[in-house]
Amino acid sequence: MSFDLSVIPNKNIVLAVTGGIAAYKSAILVRRLKDAGFNVRVVMTQGAQAFITPLTFQALSGNPVHTELLNPEAEAGMGHIELARWADLLLVAPASCDTLAKFATGLADDLLSTLYLATKSPVWVAPAMNQQMWAAKATQRNLNTLVEDGVHVIMPDAGSQACGDVGLGRMPEPEDLAYQVTQYFHRAQRAIAEKFGLLAGKHVVITAGPTREAIDPVRYISNHSTGKMGFALAAACYAAGAKVTLIAGPVSLDTPNGVRRVNVSSAVQMLDLSMQMLDEGCDIFIATAAVADYRVAEVAEHKIKKAGDELNVSLIKNPDIVATIAGQQKRPFMVGFAAETRHVEEYAAGKLVAKKLDMIACNDVSRADIGFASDENAMTVFFADAYQLEKRDLEKASKQEIAQQLVEAIHDALQHEIEPV
Ligand code: C5P
Repeated sequence: MSFDLSVIPNKNIVLAVTGGIAAYKSAILVRRLKDAGFNVRVVMTQGAQAFITPLTFQALSGNPVHTELLNPEAEAGMGHIELARWADLLLVAPASCDTLAKFATGLADDLLSTLYLATKSPVWVAPAMNQQMWAAKATQRNLNTLVEDGVHVIMPDAGSQACGDVGLGRMPEPEDLAYQVTQYFHRAQRAIAEKFGLLAGKHVVITAGPTREAIDPVRYISNHSTGKMGFALAAACYAAGAKVTLIAGPVSLDTPNGVRRVNVSSAVQMLDLSMQMLDEGCDIFIATAAVADYRVAEVAEHKIKKAGDELNVSLIKNPDIVATIAGQQKRPFMVGFAAETRHVEEYAAGKLVAKKLDMIACNDVSRADIGFASDENAMTVFFADAYQLEKRDLEKASKQEIAQQLVEAIHDALQHEIEPV
């Protein structure tokens, strides 16, 4: 299973561990949840402490472990009501028969069963038990009640059990559980972004990376673009609620979560795909790609052999992708980039007009600390005159932060709702 590690910040999980041999897996589960960016607090029942010590969970979660309901010291710190409020999710793994029965009947005679009644957060249970106990009518009856009450039940896996039996009742692997929890929060985050995000309802198409122009079947002309800015923008647009298509030249970057990526090689392929996206309906087009200005006039069918002291390759101009899209009758909001080594602002403003863009972000690539392969960038943003928006200086920051600010700039320009230039 591929484990999506895109981090979910500032979400709190109360992991409740109950009595069962699967409790040892919960130690690894804490690790995986922390890896995914969750804050984790662990609650242990008496039964759980017969299998594994609170100290293990304290060390792994980085927080004190909660074991007692009526312990004055514990209540003086984070008491059961605070803990119930703190949780964005109460995950009970493993969940014993006894715990399921308490939850189903509303018994509140220990910390966990009280917490269950006191929390407003979603509750997930991962039952783990002997296969006969799982199949028992009372257990199934309790599970049905819990489902009716809105509890999410994670089905146990089948297989050989610690007691020697074979059947349903094994707790799923920690990676699997952490993955399910992560996906749940991703979906929740996505639903909010799609409703309230700055680019909600928009389809954003982004070109990124270099292009590769073939000389013969084994050689090509290209440049050093890494695609980092375009990929960071794709992630930021997705987080802002947009549907995102990333048209990527050859780069070695992972596709951001939720983004549709199409790989291309040459400028001509990149243009073809960009035009296809217009047919699909594109609201915002962002050109971050470092498109090769020229391509080889005639690509050799076979590998060019060494001969003579000179080799002349004739180059012809590539199409300007962003200008071509901007020249279409039904055109999206157009964003271009300019990387210059001098007269940065003057050249960028010229490109804004020449390429009929709505917005251009420019940076000074003569500065060694920003641009191309760097993880940081600093930019100045210009808008087409019709928007009547002041230019914006984006101070040196990570490409992620710059991407976020560019999303805000696009959103602000769209608010002006003028006829496209
Ligand atoms: O003309 P220059 O290459 O400096 O323009 C940069 C901007 O134009 C960038 O947004 C780049 O992605 C876009 N561009 C393009 N197709 C080209 C050349 C540049 O889309 N052939």
